[in-house]
Amino acid sequence: MAVTAQGRDKGQHGSDPYPHDEETIYGKHGLKWKAGRLGPSGSTMTGVKHWAATRSPVEKAVTNLFHRMYYGLPQRTWKRTTWLGTPILKCPLDLWIYQELLARIRPEVILETGTNEGGSAHYLASICDLLDSGRVVTVDLAPKPNRPQHPRITYIEGSSTSSEVLSRMSEEASGTVMVILDSDHSRGHVLDELKAYSPLVTPGSYLIVEDTNINGHPAHPRWGPGPMEAVEEFLGSHPEFRVDRDCEKFFMTFNPSGYLQRA
Ligand SMILES: C[S@@+](CC[C@H](N)C(=O)[O-])C[C@H]1O[C@@H](n2cnc3c(N)ncnc32)[C@H](O)[C@@H]1O
Repeated sequence: MAVTAQGRDKGQHGSDPYPHDEETIYGKHGLKWKAGRLGPSGSTMTGVKHWAATRSPVEKAVTNLFHRMYYGLPQRTWKRTTWLGTPILKCPLDLWIYQELLARIRPEVILETGTNEGGSAHYLASICDLLDSGRVVTVDLAPKPNRPQHPRITYIEGSSTSSEVLSRMSEEASGTVMVILDSDHSRGHVLDELKAYSPLVTPGSYLIVEDTNINGHPAHPRWGPGPMEAVEEFLGSHPEFRVDRDCEKFFMTFNPSGYLQRA
């Protein structure tokens, strides 16, 4: 097998050696599952539940196992991930999705709840630098030393759902707005955030709910109701938002059913 000038492997006859038909890749009854096949006909399942029913058992098993390995060794993986030296509590596969969304949506303002060390704000600001547009407004309960200083980042202190913070966030929101919820991961708090911040998301843009993977989806099975349960409740009464499954294309994400696009 040779590597061509373009860097692609070619078989000995110059053809691409990698199979491209899905049945060869996944196996006849493997990763691919016909959408809707498992759902009862006429089902009124929400977007969240429908997703689980349309994944094959093999896909779910492989994804969940890798996810549990990745998430279950935090000191090796997500708690030891940095962006330009700042700790960032995200999976790189999700960060790539963020980059794709920012390049496509070009938000003028990104509102983030849950700053922590400032790694995600710094990452978003760096992508905004590359795009030459956009800025980040991020809130946390208290300041932390050594957060990155960046002309595109504004830090706010307080609870994300306090009236002071909400009015400040509303003032900051202008032009195309994207929202990322990554603070207190209890169902009640996330639901309050969803109700308060969703009106700020502009049509076509995204409301991203972080860490919907906890409480057994598939991480932290004993967490208790969290972001996923808040999303399920929220979507039931907000048809203007839909789950964008394309953002889950890398199989593993910390945010299953958490990338919500506004119509
Ligand atoms: C998961 S961390 C954020 C991680 C960060 N976005 C990153 O990717 O690196 C959650 C943060 O939310 C903050 N937090 C918890 N409750 C909050 C609230 N009610 N309002 C604002 N921030 C809160 C915590 O102090 C913590 O720093």
